[in-house]
Amino acid sequence: MNNASVSSGNGESLIYASGLTKNYGNGTSAIPVLHGVDLSVSPGEMVAIMGPSGSGKSTLLFVLGLFLSPTGGTYRALGEDVLKLQRKAQAEFRRRYVGFVFQSCNLVENSTVYENLELPLIYAGINRNARQAKIEAALERVDLSHRIRHPANLLSGGEQQRVAVARALVNNPRVILADEPTGQLDRKHSQTVMNYFRNFVMDGTTAMVIVTHDPEVASYCTRVHNLSGGMMQAPEGVVSNM
Ligand SMILES: Nc1ncnc2c1ncn2[C@@H]1O[C@H](COP(=O)(O)OP(=O)(O)OP(=O)(O)O)[C@@H](O)[C@H]1O
Ligand SMILES: [Mg+2]
Repeated sequence: MNNASVSSGNGESLIYASGLTKNYGNGTSAIPVLHGVDLSVSPGEMVAIMGPSGSGKSTLLFVLGLFLSPTGGTYRALGEDVLKLQRKAQAEFRRRYVGFVFQSCNLVENSTVYENLELPLIYAGINRNARQAKIEAALERVDLSHRIRHPANLLSGGEQQRVAVARALVNNPRVILADEPTGQLDRKHSQTVMNYFRNFVMDGTTAMVIVTHDPEVASYCTRVHNLSGGMMQAPEGVVSNM
């Protein structure tokens, strides 16, 4: 990875995707899901993606998070041509710059909440005391301070989802990709989580893409797109009072 080419947050897009296509499988059995998605997200922007189940929202997020290679198209993240990186360099890029909230949470089940949040900080080389401070702060933001030493697999679905949000933000990502991060939350905690995201993105150096089915969640965002027919439809306008 060439750090010199990584954007310093001067207003250019942190996410710039053009003509992204994705087929699952090959040849005659290929299942086309993305048909040429264009998406550009600048620092300080929070973009909601809505669309019917099966329309490819998670697929798009996996491509943007470098978990899946697209079949075609271009994608620059923080100004870097990330599709050209080797898999290992892509994983390193993701660890450094991307906070990803999986639709299914993906917590390390036989570890505590603390250990789940500690992992990205250990990868980032942060010392023990600083790790603890960051973990406590992140858990407080999602209203889970009291669960810090709890085994992750003994949490409720909504608690696990909030741990997944805290884990994604604990290392100050420049790009947040969140796949229905409030799907299991009650309204109060959904608002708590959305305010956390919004405050984070409002610092002006971070960009976020959030997949949601919930119009109230979308109302926190600066732009709402609809993914349908494998293409990104025009934004439905600025809806928030950010
Ligand atoms: N690994 C895979 N292999 C083959 N097809 C897949 C795979 N993953 C997803 N698909 C198909 O791709 C399509 C898009 O799936 P995706 O999970 O991206 O949809 P989604 O918009 O996130 O849906 P939901 O709102 O239900 O989460 C679906 O038809 C799905 O069956
Ligand atoms: Mg999905």
